[in-house]
Parts: sequence; structure tokens; C-alpha cells
Amino acid sequence: MNAAVPAAVSRRVAALRSEIREHDRRYYNEDAPTISDAEYDALFRELVALEAEHPELRTPDSPTQRVGGARAAEFAPVRHRVPMLSIRTETDTTAAGAAEFDARIRRELKLASDAPPMVYMAELKFDGVAMSLRYENGALAVAATRGDGETGEDVTANVRTIPAIPQRLRGKPPPVLEVRGEIYMTRADFAALNARQQAAGQKLYVNPRNTAAGAVRQLDPAVTAQRPLQFFAYGIGEVEGWQQPPTQSALLDALAAFGLPVSAERKLAKGASDLAKFYERVQARRADLPFEIDGVVYKVDSLELQRELGFRTREPRWAVAHKFPPEEMPAKLLAIDIQVGRTGAITPVARLEPVFVGGTTVTNVTLHNEDEIRRRDLRIGDTVVVRRAGDVIPQVVRAIPEKRPPDAREWRMPKRCPECGSTIVRLPDEAIARCSGGLVCPAQRKQALLHFASRRALDIEGLGDKLVDQLVDGGIVHTPADLYKLGLAKLAALERMADKSAGNVVAAIEKSKRTTLSRFIYALGVRHVGEATARDLALHFGSLDAVIAADEAALLHVRDVGPVLAVSIARFFAEPHNREVIAQLRAAGVHFPEGPPSAAAAAGPLAGLTFVLTGTLPTLSRDDAKARIESAGGKVAGSVSKKTNSVVAGDDAGSKLAKAKELGVAVIGEEALSELIGQAP
Ligand code: IVH
Repeated sequence: MNAAVPAAVSRRVAALRSEIREHDRRYYNEDAPTISDAEYDALFRELVALEAEHPELRTPDSPTQRVGGARAAEFAPVRHRVPMLSIRTETDTTAAGAAEFDARIRRELKLASDAPPMVYMAELKFDGVAMSLRYENGALAVAATRGDGETGEDVTANVRTIPAIPQRLRGKPPPVLEVRGEIYMTRADFAALNARQQAAGQKLYVNPRNTAAGAVRQLDPAVTAQRPLQFFAYGIGEVEGWQQPPTQSALLDALAAFGLPVSAERKLAKGASDLAKFYERVQARRADLPFEIDGVVYKVDSLELQRELGFRTREPRWAVAHKFPPEEMPAKLLAIDIQVGRTGAITPVARLEPVFVGGTTVTNVTLHNEDEIRRRDLRIGDTVVVRRAGDVIPQVVRAIPEKRPPDAREWRMPKRCPECGSTIVRLPDEAIARCSGGLVCPAQRKQALLHFASRRALDIEGLGDKLVDQLVDGGIVHTPADLYKLGLAKLAALERMADKSAGNVVAAIEKSKRTTLSRFIYALGVRHVGEATARDLALHFGSLDAVIAADEAALLHVRDVGPVLAVSIARFFAEPHNREVIAQLRAAGVHFPEGPPSAAAAAGPLAGLTFVLTGTLPTLSRDDAKARIESAGGKVAGSVSKKTNSVVAGDDAGSKLAKAKELGVAVIGEEALSELIGQAP
């Protein structure tokens, strides 16, 4: 032991080596890794850095000194006459990584800055198992895994069961040709395999790559035969008696001509900008590919230049793997807080130690509900796997049990709402817990205001979360009606509110007074009443007073309104506080066109509604349609006006349809009309 090396460093190096070896064993020999690639890379990089700082600690058996995994005793050894190397990984996971590679290549080749752009082959980096296929006189002779790069495992019997791998090459293959490539499993095949496992009550596989690796290294080829494996060729090893093509692109074409599968997702790229474009295009389409990749690979296209560039220890200088930002990363779960929604729904939110995943920094992730947390056994203090693929919302996938500290705590739903102190209730058959505070709860009030002002409701531009927070927290606004009492002075007095933006908000509030009945109903935020139901209610009842007066039985006549919705609507309008807010809104000048009051004809489902017929309906004659509408309590008018509730249009509809569109009158077809009428008891 060298005295110059601090004991702590030696200990850390030893610990890293044994940890990495253990993960190698799990990955290569058991095909059951317990950490993500990114975590593994972090351990590996730390060890490389420490060994670089203290070269005296380097040993020949350090994990940094070998290429891949160990060979299992069950398979006969295969010596690779041309070693199976790995490639250097570009550290920058933005498009700029491409420029770094290009700059390095130009430097190594001592190219002048005005020399023409380098030509590269850009390929996908398949996420499977590396494989060497030795063809002798065109016949598959040996299939071997990479092993440690020098010696792999003979898995010929297993590989012969893979239909995608030809037993014989087409055309005029040379006496010896070693094809290097990747065995993989498509996402669809992986999902189907797991569905079968689940149906049979068997353990589920972790991911396509490990499943493919496990299948290749089965002791019984019959088992491999049942796994849907695929193959892509991307290079060659030993060759004899073949005039090699001059470029990587021509080489891939030649391999394809021999009947080997070569991915069509490859591109000849001129210079760094083409590489960067390829990187970004592939990244954007990553989720749509039928198989998994973890990045792209760039190779100098000219084989002559490849030879000139040569190797650096065990990696070729002429190629690089440019990975995408990892989609899964571990992060510490610091706490679970709760968020209160507009209807009081409580959503637990994971507070995480900031983690860079899928290209953004993630700190908060919603956890859906209490059962979900229990089902996944997430505890505060756990290290959890955070996933963000593409543009989707980040998720907490699972906890990593090996990393659970002894003091990790279970989380329980609090008894009281942190915002207003009201009790939190959860109905027996509901997954969601709710704050019972209603509009007393400031969190619910804020959400209700934001909903009221949202684009599809009263559309008050400029009334965002920050402003609503200030207005509610300052006790200035309690209900949506209070918004109409805000003057320029009150708004401009708020912190961080410029006169100009205050003026804009006032104007937006003023503008929102003119609206439609369906927008108004939607804006009230009645539980379960979305835009479509609001529209149906407006159409059915014609006026707000008719909606307010409707009891559950009357509400059940509205299209798509079932018992749950009918109770929710009736309760909302029975609540004196809600009626008061509605009265205040009307008094403040909020108005909308209304149809005839429903009291006029409470008889049928179309009571109080006026229709106009136009065009040829698919099955009903004009007279039949008229008779049906009238017997359901509706009226049929001859021309379209603002008072028309709906225009029923068929084929070849003419000016009435145009008029309806002009006035914003709803246009429906025969089917929708029948549905409206069909709701009659
Ligand atoms: S070329 C000497 N091309 O990535 C260069 N490798 O560390 C040899 N891989 O395990 C590799 N897709 O199995 C190359 N289009 C591709 C690849 C690819 C996936 C794998 C390869 C190896 C690792 C490179």
C-alpha cells in the first residue's frame, strides 16, 4: 500500500470494486440487475477517476481494466481472434456531444479548420446483447457472446433457434466472415411475453434487454426457441478471403446483401451538424421505434481513416456512443406532501432530491393516491426510481429495496387538510380522499377561481396562479363574484403588478361578462360537470333558472346524465352559498343569451327547445322528424335565429346550416336527435 494514498481513498476504491463486481455478476450471470445503467455508470466513473488520480492503486484485475462480463462455466469458451471491443461514451447528452466527437476526430487526423467535413456513418445504439456470428463458407459455424471481449461463450445451439439469423448467407460469402451485431427483443414481443407470464402466474421480466440476454444464455435451446429474439448486424470481426468494402456504409450494405438484418435507421452524415441532426431526430422518435435503443453510434465512414485513427487502450478512436439522457434515475424521496384540488381531491406529491432525468430536473412528482403508495411500498427516506420518457409527466416507478435506510418511514394520509384544517374523508368505494372544507378551504377556492377563469370557462386572460394566490391569501377575493368587484386600484396595489398588466386584467374581467350559458355552467365547477355536460344542460334547459330549478328526476332527462351526475348537479344548486354566488355574478353584469324557460313545457325531453331542420336526413323524412320533435315537447321553426337551440342537418344542407354556423347555433345530426329523444322515460 502506498503511503501517499489516504486510507479513505484506498477503502473507497476497494468498496467500489467489490460493488461493481457484484453488479457485474447480477447483470451478466443472473441477468437480473438491481441498479440502473446510470447508477452503474456513476460508480464506474468514480472508480476510473480515483484510479486516474492515484495510479498506484490500479490493479490488473480492477473492473476498469476489462471490457465486459465474466464468462459462465456452463458454456464452452470461444476465443475472439478479433477482440469484441466496447466504444467510448460521449459524456454530453445534448446534441453538442456530436460536435465534441467531430472536433476530436479532426484533431486526431490533424485536419485543417477549412478542410471539408468528415463523413460519418450514424447508426442506432441497440440495447440488446452483443453477438459474434462466425460464418464459414457461408454457413453459420459459431455464435459467441462478448464475454470479457477476448473470450466469450459458445451459444451456437441457442442462436440457431433464432429465425432472424440466417443459417446460410446469400450471394458469394467469403470462406470466413465474423459478423458482429446485437440480439434484441422488440417491445411488443416483450410485452406479449410478460402478458403470458402473468397469465401463467409466473415472475415478470424486467426489460427486453435482460430478457434477450437470459434467453441467449439458456442451457436448453428449446427454451431459447420460445423467446422471440431478433438481430441487427453492425460490424465485422475476423474475415478471410474477402475484399472488404472501403467504408462502413458499404460494409453494412454488403452485410444486408448477404441476407443479414441491418437496421434501415442509418444515415451517412457530413460533419458535426448532420450528426447532431441525426441525434435529435432519433431522440424525438425513440419512443416510436419498435425496439429499445439507448442512444446512437457515430463511426468514421472510411475504413482507411479508421485504421489510421486506431485504438486507445481498448476503445476504437473512430467511433463513439452518444447516449440519450437516461429516462430513469434514482432519487431520494425526501417527503410526501399533499395537494388539494378544486373539488377537494387530495393528491399526494413526492418531494425528491432534485434529479436530472429525461432531459429535465425533477423535484416534485404526483403519486395519485394513498393505495398506490401502499401498493408500491414507497417509504419516506427510500431511494426511488424516477422515470420521465419523452415529454410525459415524470413518474415514481418503484422503491429500490436494497437502498432503504433503517429509518425509512411509512406515509399516512393526514386526518386534516393542511390548508384549512377541515377533516379529510375518503368514501368506502373511492380511491381518492377529499378535504371536506369546500370553498372554506383556500386551496379549493384558488382552484375554483382558476377554473372559473380558464380559457374554456369565462376565459379571463392574465388571471393565473400567482395572481390568484395573492388575491385569495390577501383576503381580497373569496368567490368568483368578488372578481367583478376588483378595480384597477386594488389590482395595481398588489405586489409585482405593473399598472399595465393590472389594466389588462381589468379589461379581461370586463370582457368575460359577456358569455354563453354553457360556459357559465361549466365555469361554476360543479363536480363531474365537464364541458360536454354543461353544453347538454344549457341545450336541454335553455335558461339558468331552469337548470337551477331542476330536480334529480328532471336532470335524468338530460342526455348522458346518470344518477351520480344528477345528484351532484342538484346538490350544487340546492346549496345556498352557490345560489348566492350566482346571484352576485348576475348582479355584477355577467350575462348570456337564454332560451325559453323550461316551465313552458315540462312534458318531454325536448321541452322548451327549438329546432330547425335542413337537408336530407339519413332515415327520417322531414315530416317524421318534425312529428318526433314535437311529440317530445320541442318546437320546429322554419328559419334559424339566435333563439334556435339546434339545427338538425342532413346531406346537402344549405343556407340554414351556414346561418347556424354564423350565429354559433349547435348543429346536430339525426343520430344525435334520436338520442335526445330516446332519453324519454
Ligand atoms: S460498434 C468497435 N455499433 O454497444 C466498435 N456497437 O460499447 C464495436 N452496440 O456492446 C461496437 N449498437 O454491442 C456498435 N450500431 C452499433 C451498436 C453497438 C449497439 C453495442 C455493442 C457494444 C456496445 C458498445
